[in-house]
Amino acid sequence: MYTQLEQRGMPEPPVNISTLQKMKQRGEPIACLTAYDASYAVLVDAAGADLVLVGDSLGMVIQGHDTTVPVTVDDIIYHCRTVARGVRRAFLVADMPFMSYTEPGMALDNAVRLMQEGGAMMVKLEGGDDQVEIVAHLARHDIPVCAHLGLKPQSVHKIGGFKVQGREPDKAKAMLQSAQRLQDAGADIVLLECVPNEAGKMITEALQVPVIGIGAGPYVDGQILVLYDILDITQGRTPKFVRNFQAGCDSPLLAVQSYVRAVKEGDYPAPEHCFS
Ligand code: KIV
Repeated sequence: MYTQLEQRGMPEPPVNISTLQKMKQRGEPIACLTAYDASYAVLVDAAGADLVLVGDSLGMVIQGHDTTVPVTVDDIIYHCRTVARGVRRAFLVADMPFMSYTEPGMALDNAVRLMQEGGAMMVKLEGGDDQVEIVAHLARHDIPVCAHLGLKPQSVHKIGGFKVQGREPDKAKAMLQSAQRLQDAGADIVLLECVPNEAGKMITEALQVPVIGIGAGPYVDGQILVLYDILDITQGRTPKFVRNFQAGCDSPLLAVQSYVRAVKEGDYPAPEHCFS
C-alpha cells in the first residue's frame, strides 16, 4: 500500500517533509527551483533538485504580467498538474495566489484544491503575523505549509516596489518573531525573500523547521531561484541574487545540474548575490 510514495521505481526515495527536516539537522543544503510545466519538471527533478515550487512567479515569467497579482488558483492548478506529471523525487510545493487565503475556510478550500487537483504536497503562502491563524487552520487539517516572509511579491503595490526587507534591526527582529509564531502555528518550512545575510542567519538558527532563502544569503538551510532566471531566459534586469547558470553550459540540464551542485557545495550564493 505504501510502495508508490516510498519507491516510485527510483533508486532514491522521494523527498518528503522529514527528508528536508533531516537535511537541516545534518547541515546539508537543500536545492530548490521553480518549474511550471512537465518538460522542465523532468529536467529539474533529474538534475537532483530536492524541492520544486510551482510559484505564482508564473504570472510574470509565463503569462507576461508585471507582477504576480493577476495569478488565480486555477492557473496554479493547471501548471501544478503538469509539473506533478514530471516530478518523481522532488517535493512538490504550490503557491497560494493573491487573495486566495484571506479567510481560514477559503484558505482550506483552496489548499485542498491545490493538493487534490494540482498534486501539490505542500502549499506556500505569503505573510507574517497576519497569517498565523490561517497557517494554524491549515495545519490543524494536516495541510503542510510553507510561510513566505521578507519581500512578499503579492504585496508589491502596498510596499511600493520589490525591495529588500529587514535591514533595520527592529524590522529584522519583528520578522524573526513572525517566523517563530508561524512555526508555532504549524508552518513546516519558512521561505525568506530578499533579506540581509544577518537576518537570514538569525532566523535560520532560531527555527527548528528548514529555512529556504531567495536573496537571503548563504546561512539559510536551502536556496531557491526562479528557473527562467538561472537559465538566462528572463530578459531585462534580473535581481541581484540571480546567477546565470546557463553561461558555459551546453544544455538546460547541465545548467540546472550546475545550480544544484553550486547550492550543495556552498558556491552559491556568493557575496555579490547577497544583501547587507
Ligand atoms: O513565486 C515564486 O516563484 C516564489 C519564489 C520567488 C520563491 O515565490
